[in-house]
Formats: sequence, structure tokens, C-alpha cells
Amino acid sequence: MSDNIIGAAKPRIEGPLKLTGRALYSSDNHLDGMVYAYGVFSSIASGEITNLDLSAAKQSPGVIDIFHHDHFPRLFRTPSSMEQQNKVDEERLPFEDNKIHYAGQFVALVVADSFENARAAAYKVKADYHESAAIANLAQAMAQGEPELQEGAGHSRGEPEPAFENAAHRIDYTYSTPVETHNPMEMHATVAAWHDGKLTMYDTTQGVVNARNVYAKVFGLSPDRVEVLTPFLGSGFGGKLWPWPHAIAAAAAAREIGRPVQLVVPRQAMFTTTGHRPETRQRLRLATDDDGRLVSLRHDSISTMSNLDQDTVFVESCGQMTKALYACENTQVTHSIIRNNRGTPTSMRAPGAAPGMFALESAMDEMAHAAGIDPLEFRRRNYSDTDQSKELPWSSNQLREAYDQAAEKFGWDKRNPEIGSMREGNEIIGWGMAACNWEAIRRECDARVSLRSDGTAYASCATQDIGTGTYTIVAQAVSEITGLPLEKIEVELGDSSYPSGPISGGSWATATTLPAIAEAARAALDQLKGYAISESGVFAGAKKEDISFSDGQLANADGRTVTFADVLKARKLASADGEAHSGTAPTDQYSFRSFGAHFVEVRWDPGISNLRISRVVSAIDVGRAINALTSRSQVEGAIVMGIGMALFEQTEYDHRNARPVNNNYAEYLVPVHADQPEIDVILLDYPDYKFNEFGARGIGEIGITGVTAAIANAVHHATGKRIRELPITLDKLM
Ligand code: MOS
Repeated sequence: MSDNIIGAAKPRIEGPLKLTGRALYSSDNHLDGMVYAYGVFSSIASGEITNLDLSAAKQSPGVIDIFHHDHFPRLFRTPSSMEQQNKVDEERLPFEDNKIHYAGQFVALVVADSFENARAAAYKVKADYHESAAIANLAQAMAQGEPELQEGAGHSRGEPEPAFENAAHRIDYTYSTPVETHNPMEMHATVAAWHDGKLTMYDTTQGVVNARNVYAKVFGLSPDRVEVLTPFLGSGFGGKLWPWPHAIAAAAAAREIGRPVQLVVPRQAMFTTTGHRPETRQRLRLATDDDGRLVSLRHDSISTMSNLDQDTVFVESCGQMTKALYACENTQVTHSIIRNNRGTPTSMRAPGAAPGMFALESAMDEMAHAAGIDPLEFRRRNYSDTDQSKELPWSSNQLREAYDQAAEKFGWDKRNPEIGSMREGNEIIGWGMAACNWEAIRRECDARVSLRSDGTAYASCATQDIGTGTYTIVAQAVSEITGLPLEKIEVELGDSSYPSGPISGGSWATATTLPAIAEAARAALDQLKGYAISESGVFAGAKKEDISFSDGQLANADGRTVTFADVLKARKLASADGEAHSGTAPTDQYSFRSFGAHFVEVRWDPGISNLRISRVVSAIDVGRAINALTSRSQVEGAIVMGIGMALFEQTEYDHRNARPVNNNYAEYLVPVHADQPEIDVILLDYPDYKFNEFGARGIGEIGITGVTAAIANAVHHATGKRIRELPITLDKLM
């Protein structure tokens, strides 16, 4: 068993709970005496509240209380640090003052005896504002002010400018990407309850430990007095990494009223108060020598930022991959922000890299064209066998293998490079490709594993499963060490009182959690051996080093075997337990990144202006994939999200008043089944043992990087139109 459980295609172990409705998501919790909160949201994007007329709302049926800037407890801000695990994006507390910084900001919170009554009363709150001019988007912000360069977020080596001027071939283009909004199926929700000065939060979060620490800071409590529970999450895509104002408001309201409060953020407010991917503008300047080798590479990006946060700034780090993906002595990457009247932006799947790789990989295609080289050959020629930004070797980089395997499966060698030359019936076929890239990160982690007298094992960690399969891979890791089958392994995640675990973000939960789980399982086995050789043990008098363990059984030097359940029963013990702490990866010795390549076929029917994506082949190098089924699903899902980013997704703001205009599922378009091509995912299997004992680097985000550019490059091959502004809507092709 231990030979093949890692890497096996195992269905999710919690699947039956979800399919039978027994998995309780945050808003499924209905506590005794619970009441319901509903927000009133600002209709202006800039200015201040001059009056709140609550008279009609207060007389509305079932209303218990209405909170606002003149009626709200004084709370504390959090220092907001990822290192200290108390990070928030929007540092302003809800109802801190009467100032309005973005449309959709909370201006009041109505609490009533039912959801319907709370909502009905919220609609009756009448707010008067003094409205001031709002900055609706990046272009308006640029017209009024200068971007703020983020020192320290950049990178520079060599002399890119003279190298560019003296090069054989050059390009200089600007790319842009719009605001995108996280739209996980499950909406943000909180159920907050207080008992004896202790706070319990059933919360939609990608990080129970971080959320626990934030609520402790905000309410001035010891973290021991706060528990955050997220056993199941209907995904988050980064929007649920750090707490947002609604959760703090719900907890404060629950304390004031003395009853549990449930608050679900309506979908429309998820377009304003729970983050978004900011708008970007990116200038790419590339130059090559006669042989098509990059001699100069510059990537200067600007992203939009809210104007209500001063101590912490969210930077969309578009050039993060550009620093090192290709070999180039003369490289410069800069990041700037510019303020506008939108809510605070945050990480959205592959933050930085998703928009950044759109620009970089589109520019690589344009550069290949300018130099007269096949785009795949151009990338091969510029492969970097070290990380030049860190002056470190890669731990493992199988990018060339990814190119080879994906190109062969796709049939790239049959591509006619001439634009519009490949046709079938009424359709023009376009073939494009791009690299994908994501940094591999591993954090510290604690975990606990118990071997129990009923023959089962139990593992726990305060990380969470956001729907991606974390429960299952933790069970696989326990199975790998103990030899127990998955059905005898119970896994508990999503409770901040468990041993401290990582956020489900940055593609680092797998690489971070599994080493701690494995170490804890080994510690439990060690304790078990101790019990076996003790005076009343099954192998009394034997030496620990003579006891071996496999497939759930202990064996002594004579080859006699007993189950671990019998070892425990002989000592009348419930369990043998192990706790462990695992560390980070050796980032001073190696640069850890994942790599891959996407090949895309589009079909453009100019007669009816129909563009569709007909085929995607992707080869991904993430080290070892722990679960072949859930890993593949992660990459497929990321490609689908990349298709959405390429063709559909954009949150639009009225340029007159900075209000979002398509803040709903009808007008914010995401890809549906009919938009899906055949997706062929090749998972390369080169375990990265320099990263951790499982060789796994993580897989959640890399798949979305580069897809957009591969699509744009295919569109160019079909139509001759180079679309440098996402999304690629049909009007841009006509
Ligand atoms: Mo991911 S954007 O780190 O949830």
C-alpha cells in the first residue's frame, strides 16, 4: 500500500458528507436564539454620511437593533501582518467613522429575528450623503496623479536600457487587465456567538488561524478566547484569505445583542466589500539579439489600490514570474500602485502571475514574431537553467519537458505560422502557446496524529479544505506512514483550536501540511513502539530498534506481528499520540518554482463573429502530485478560470461615480459548460525532494497562469488581431 497511496487517484474522503448534505457550511449553522444581520451599503463611492434616517427601519417587523457609525462598539485595529498571522486587507474597522471610500461600503447593519425581516428593514434605511468626486478606474487615477512606486517590490540586474537600444529586435507594448471579482459558489458568511467572554465564529475563511488571531486583536482578547470553525468551504479563490468587515461587524453585533448573529454577504456586496483582483496596466519592453536570445527585459506594472488603507498596501505583483522565468542578463521589474475609489483589492488565484503572465507571455509571442522565430522555439532558446533573480539553482525545473510533452500531444509541429492560414469549413483555426509559472512556498506547520485502540487513526491540523481535497491528501499521508487504508483514517481540519496550520492559499497548503502530518504519524508510531516494549507490553523487554512497523502492524525481531490496536489494548490505552512541527524549505540554497506550458486551439468564425476555444493541452511540473484525481481537477479548474479571465470576466465601474454596474451573476460573465473545450492535462512526475519529503510543490494556482496569453496568442494566429486588453470580447475582433 505504501508504495502507491501517494499519487493515487483517490476520490475525496468527505465527498459522501457533501453529497448527503451533512457537511455544514458556515451559514448552515442555526444556533439557539440566533438572529440575522443584513447590511446597508453605500450608494456613493466617495464622501460622507450626513444623515441616517432609521425611523421606518426601526418600525419594520422583527427588528432588534441597527448599528452604524454613531452606534457601534469601539474596537481595535489589527497590525495586519502575514508573518504574525493576523492579516486583514481592509484595515479600517466597520463603522469607524462616517467616511465613505467606495460604493458598497457598509453604512449600517440591521439585526432582526429572521433573514427576511433584516433584509426588508435594511431596504428602509435612508442614508443622506455629502458626495465628493470619485476616482472610478486606473485611467482616471492616472489622469489625476502619479503612481506610487513600491520600493522593494522590484528587481533589477544588468543594464536593460542600453541593451534594448542596441538590440537587433525590439518590442515595446502595454497590456491591461480589468478588475475581476472572486465568485466562489459559497457566499461569504459568518455565524458569531459569545459565551462567557469567548467568541466562536463559524466563518467562511481560507485561514482559521489567521482569522482567529485577527478577531482576538480586534476585540482585544487572548487568542485562546476565540475559536474559528471552517470545516467546509465552498471555495474562496483568495477572497476568503483574510477577514473582511462583515465578519467583524457580525461578531460585534452578537456581543452587543447577547445572541448569536448570522450574516451572509449578498452576492452584490461581494463585488465591493470582500476584495477583488485589481486593474493592471503593464508595459513590456523586450529585445533580442540576432539569434533570438533575450538581451533586455523590462516589465513595469501599475495596479489599482483603495484609498482607505495606509499602513498596508496590496500590490498585484505582475512581474514576480518575469524576474526569473527566462534567461536575461539585463532585467528590470517594477511595481507601482495608484489609488482609486474601489474597495480594497486582494489576492485572487495566482495573484500577480495571472495578469502578469498574460502580459509577459503575450509579449514573448510578439517578440518571437518580431524576431521571426517559432514561439515555442523562442521560449526554448531562452530557457533559464538558474534563477537569475536570486542567483540560485532551481530545485527542479522541467519546463523543457513540459514544452516537449505538451507540444507533441497538441501536434504543434503541424502549425502553419502564417496568420489565418489554418481553416476548416467556415472557421479559422488559431494555435497559440504560453508558459505557466508559480512560486513554490512552504511555511511552518504543526499537526497531531493518533493511533487508536479501535484500529483507526486520527489526524488534525488547523488548516482547512476549501474544496480542493486537503482532507484526502492528509489521509493519504497518514496512510503512507502507517499503512492503514484511507477508510480507517479520520481527518479533522478547519478549527483554529487544532495544531496551527497554514492558510489555504498561495498553493502552499499541501507542501506545508503533509510534512507535519508525516512527522506526527512517525511520532505516534514511536510512542506505540515504546508501549509495545514496556513491562506490560506485547513485546516486553525488546529493544525499540528491533521493532518494525508496516501496514498497521508491529513486528519484533523474531518476526512475530501484532496490530497496533492489540499493542494499545495490552496496555489498556486509548491511543498512541504524536505531535510535530515542520519547518520551511531551504530557500537560501534553491529557488523553488513550478513550471508548465499551455497549448490552445481557438476557432474563429468571421461570418457570425463566433470565437470558441476548442482544445487545450497543458503539461504541468509541480513536483509530485499527491492525488492524481484532485490534482488534475485543480489544473482543469484553473484553466477554466483562465478561459473566464481571457474571454469574459471584468467588473465594470460607472466612470461617472465609481459604482460597479455588473455586480451580479447575470452580467458578470464566467465560463459555463458550453464554453469548455477538451482539456488535456499532463502531470509531469518529478518529485522535488529538496522541497519536502513528499516531493510536492503545490498545484492550486499555476494552471491559471499563462492560459490567457496562450488564448490571446491563438487569437492572433487566427485573426491577425493582437488583443492587449483583457477580456478578449468580440467587439475587439470585429
Ligand atoms: Mo490564493 S489567491 O492564495 O487563495
